[in-house]
Amino acid sequence: MTKTAFVKSYGCQMNVYDSTRMQELLATQGYAQVDTPDAADLVVLNTCHIREKASDKVYSELGRIKELKDARQSAGNDMIVAVAGCVAQAEGAEIIKRNKSVDLVFGPQTYHRLPAMLKTHNETGQAVVETEFGFEDKFAHLSSRKALKHGVSAFLTVQEGCDKFCSFCVVPYTRGAEVSRSIPQVLDEARALAESGVREITLLGQNVNAYHGKNAAGEMSSLAELVTSLSSIAGIDRIRYTTSHPRDMSDDLIAAHAENPKLMPYLHLPVQSGSDKILKAMNRGHTGQNYIDLIAKVRTVRPDIALSGDFIVGFPGETEADFENTLNLVKAVGYASAYSFKYSERPGTPAAERAAQVPEDVKNNRLYRLQNLIAQHMADFNTACVGRILSVLVEKPGRMEGQVIGRSPYLQSVHFDGGGASIGDIVKCQILGTTPNSLSATVVE
Ligand code: 5AD
Ligand code: SF4
Repeated sequence: MTKTAFVKSYGCQMNVYDSTRMQELLATQGYAQVDTPDAADLVVLNTCHIREKASDKVYSELGRIKELKDARQSAGNDMIVAVAGCVAQAEGAEIIKRNKSVDLVFGPQTYHRLPAMLKTHNETGQAVVETEFGFEDKFAHLSSRKALKHGVSAFLTVQEGCDKFCSFCVVPYTRGAEVSRSIPQVLDEARALAESGVREITLLGQNVNAYHGKNAAGEMSSLAELVTSLSSIAGIDRIRYTTSHPRDMSDDLIAAHAENPKLMPYLHLPVQSGSDKILKAMNRGHTGQNYIDLIAKVRTVRPDIALSGDFIVGFPGETEADFENTLNLVKAVGYASAYSFKYSERPGTPAAERAAQVPEDVKNNRLYRLQNLIAQHMADFNTACVGRILSVLVEKPGRMEGQVIGRSPYLQSVHFDGGGASIGDIVKCQILGTTPNSLSATVVE
């Protein structure tokens, strides 16, 4: 009988990628994927530790899973419960102490050992915890990307971990030190994705533009060089990358935005704050003006580029004047979209030790004001696209008969009457109008 697995992903795109890789591994072990945990033989929660809220979700979900497991066990069936990802990395065996239904705990650098962990657990009946860092290259141990069917747009991790140590952030502790995969390894994976019908690849890394993998000759190569190599793969027509750090936005990568038609005009470049005092306390290593100058440089070579960013409001010591500097930076840049978060104290990070924590109601107020401003910018960016002809990668059928949904080069969701367009086609569309989260269009070619 086929076994079933339910894998749930929390947090960032890299977790989505890791979850997919786990599903591929599980497919080779005879597990079919199911959409709910209710009757699954194996439940994997791939967790996120970035903010307190994200972490807390895991324990409430585990409470529900425990009930399902208990019910299954009293009917004579088992359910293996695994906690993966960044909470697993940060809390390890503590998770099993808090919830006795958990059988496996493993971090982002050990999930390739999932089949071995399942085997050990089945043989011994004991819980298994594996949270070591970097003792082997997980990518070398993962199964083929062809084990599962992919959509037309796929993630591909090329760099992982972080050495920057922003004072608010858990990533250096949960994902470990910065590591880049080699260009040949990335190309192999990209080719396999292309063969399974993928047309757009988003290169992932916590600091993706700090990529420095080796090429076939063993020489250190930049992200721009990786993008150039990937561009030669037939079938891969669009390349994106995320997330970048302003300090690693090198000239060759900026130039690639002007020169490489496969590199999409979209840049997610978090700045976190517009106040130099706060940026310093965050250990960002750049000022607000450095960032604005950098954006100007990118726009010189690619004037239409869509900019995106991340912001934290209520970092310890942030005054109203500091926050207004953030609003001013947002106005100066003009984002096509941006994400903003209330500062969340993370155990073990330097910022959590700071005395001047900002009260919750002040954070709420600042988040509200910032999100309103960003929404306005997003609407302006979308409105400016009306009338333009954009190429759209068709990703899925729309809700209405005959309609399809795709993405513009600027990552906007575009819906239109498909005509003869199939999933995976790239079609020219004229933008007719905007709705809060998407564009409507008509095919012109
Ligand atoms: N509190 C709030 N937001 C955070 N981020 C990272 N750490 C924290 C934290 N402690 C945000 C940053 C980062 C994004 C992925 O999450 O904006 O860019
Ligand atoms: Fe969450 Fe960061 Fe881990 Fe991604 S890397 S899952 S955002 S804690």
